[in-house]
Amino acid sequence: MALIERPRLARSLRLGLLIAALIATVLGALAWLQVRDEREIDLKDVTLRAEALAQQIAPTAEGALALSNPEARKALRGRLDGYGRLLGYAVFRPDGELVAAGSSVLDFADRMAPVARKAAVTGRQASSMTQSQGIPIYALAVPLKDSKGASSGVLAVAHDVSFIDGRATGRLVQYGFGIGVVTLLTVILVVAATWFTYERPLHRLADWMRRLRTESSAGSPPPGLPSSLLLHESDRLAASFRAARRADRQLSQAAVRAEEVWTAERLRVQAVTALGQNRQLVVVSNREPYMHQVEEGKVQMIVPAGGLVAALDPVLQACGGVWIAHGSGDADRETVDAHGRVMVPPEDPHYTLKRVWLTREEEQGYYYGFANEGLWPLCHLAHERPLFRAADWDYYRMANERFARAVLDEVGTDRAMVLVQDYQLALVPRILKEARPGLRVGLFWHIPWPNPEAFRICPFGKSILAGMLGADLVGFHLQQYCNNFLETVDRLMESRLDWDHFAVELKGHASEVLPFPISVQNWDERNVPAGAALAEQIAAFKARYKLGDTYIAVGVDRVDYTKGLPERFRAIDRFLEKYPRYLGRFTFVELGAPSRTHIPRYRDHMARLEALVDEINWKHQTDDWKPIHFLATHHDVSTVHAFLCMAPMCIVSSLHDGMNLVAKEYVEAKAGGDGVLVLSEFAGAARELSDALIINPYDTEQFAEAIRRGVEMGADERRERMERMFRTVEEHNVYRWAAAFITRLAATRVDEASADDGPAASGQIV
Ligand code: G6P
Repeated sequence: MALIERPRLARSLRLGLLIAALIATVLGALAWLQVRDEREIDLKDVTLRAEALAQQIAPTAEGALALSNPEARKALRGRLDGYGRLLGYAVFRPDGELVAAGSSVLDFADRMAPVARKAAVTGRQASSMTQSQGIPIYALAVPLKDSKGASSGVLAVAHDVSFIDGRATGRLVQYGFGIGVVTLLTVILVVAATWFTYERPLHRLADWMRRLRTESSAGSPPPGLPSSLLLHESDRLAASFRAARRADRQLSQAAVRAEEVWTAERLRVQAVTALGQNRQLVVVSNREPYMHQVEEGKVQMIVPAGGLVAALDPVLQACGGVWIAHGSGDADRETVDAHGRVMVPPEDPHYTLKRVWLTREEEQGYYYGFANEGLWPLCHLAHERPLFRAADWDYYRMANERFARAVLDEVGTDRAMVLVQDYQLALVPRILKEARPGLRVGLFWHIPWPNPEAFRICPFGKSILAGMLGADLVGFHLQQYCNNFLETVDRLMESRLDWDHFAVELKGHASEVLPFPISVQNWDERNVPAGAALAEQIAAFKARYKLGDTYIAVGVDRVDYTKGLPERFRAIDRFLEKYPRYLGRFTFVELGAPSRTHIPRYRDHMARLEALVDEINWKHQTDDWKPIHFLATHHDVSTVHAFLCMAPMCIVSSLHDGMNLVAKEYVEAKAGGDGVLVLSEFAGAARELSDALIINPYDTEQFAEAIRRGVEMGADERRERMERMFRTVEEHNVYRWAAAFITRLAATRVDEASADDGPAASGQIV
């Protein structure tokens, strides 16, 4: 303790001394001026006294000067001696010759001759200071006149003025003592004030933070913090810690309970329990899990690319229910019944897909415009400027109404749990709640949530937040996004925040805001080739793309500017530049699914990527090898799986990504075997997959070096890392994610009695 406190005391002491030195300097200067003035006043008193004395004796001296020197001395004898501080007088001729002087003046009378001469010459009195035997003497010389008014001599009055210096010295000592006391008091005061106001509270705060970090019962922040803001922030910090600890405890308790990995069946059982009697499960999202397209004159079913579909489809397959989504395929209308419904997956139906129809203008304004040119860049920090158009916002509100209506039609008066998905449908929770307060509504936000400063630029931000806070539970991938969200609500909304429970109360309705890191299912459960069929498929791909036996790295992405594709291609270029021994021996395959191509920014991005790939390939390629294969088309699940299995390396280089499920799918594809994952630190997945080679995609040198490190990593290290990541993904699979979300939502406080009231009037969007 003493060791910690000494430097702190020294700091306060230094500050105290500095302030005291300043005060002492100012007071010292004032004291010096004061003493100087007082000295002048004393001297003036002596002058006045000398003048008065000179006047008294002047007639006698003038008379004596008419005589010869011996006669004059006789005439003045006994009249020139002084008493007390008056030492006496001396009488001079105009040329400075001494005529007579008192007995105490004789010793130094000759030293008064110059001032006497000066008075005689100027005809005005003059003064001077001299010394005799160490005593300071003040001499005042007064000119004398004869009966005709001519200068006849000078009378000098000598005073002992040692008392003036003595008095000045005494004053200086007094002032010095006073200044010393003030300095000491200042030092004590400053040290005490800084100690009690800053040092001690900060010391306690540091101690409390240490306990918060290391112990489970750190209590509230210490009292007496110097700023209420600090107290406020510390309170939140503590609340975050407690919430994170609680979540961790819950997870580890769940892990203890979980003797086996979460499976589809286990989720189903859990969902049935959580949903209770007669409560149906409804998922609503913009993107549909199965899309019907006419290709080569035939209707084909495709599974759209993207994390949302990859995660939610297994959940619905496990639990059953209805998935409401935009029917965006050009053959979607042909494949549904009169109510827009179709059972999916087509080959083995498990749940109902209900399609919502949007006009071309609505899709343009709501999906391409507001959701993907506004909210998408707003939430991803990828240096893309968000565009907010009032007309797009109108379409966004209209489309959200449409989706919400579809949900309300679907549930009728039944009890239901509605899982609203993502940023395209931010207003749906409130519309649902206002129409049917008894519905249990959860919202899962699949993309990051930015900090409040970034979010504030959205002109419709408050309405978005109000819409989201209609949900009973709002889920994000990471605690950090929850914190950002609550901070944003705190800044923009008149609401009550409960940081201890991560909850917000807005207009009497409470929403919990918690992290649920999303995940994937095991490849074994998906309809993809395995064993010999997979080997054959891989051989066919290798032959088709002339991959030979080069080292293959793979990337799987929607072609989106947030995915860091230019950065990835540049890092590969740099890797080959730096390590030419890999020319002809390393091939990168990018499975890039074109996405949102009606948005100019996406079209430009695709064109620039193709140009960049051309440039890099041209620089390094040989007759039978090129470094980058950019396969920009839709790839089915089985193709993605085959490439993930064949590649000893997978690269994910997002500039910002809520989670990134490709990273987890790659780990699952390796099933604990051999492989290297190069992963951006800006993808949510990096929190869980710390055994990946973590890169900053903006740092080309580091990125290229990570590729080299991955290529050259020893088999043991590869296996160990992959093994650990595999265990993480297996344990935290998508069934566990869904079970956690549904269970939590089922536990929120909802007055389900009002569910029996039936649909209310149309909800208002604020
Ligand atoms: C991200 C979003 C999803 C979206 C997916 C695909 O994962 O979070 O909501 O569905 O991208 O994007 P798209 O615009 O094709 O639906």
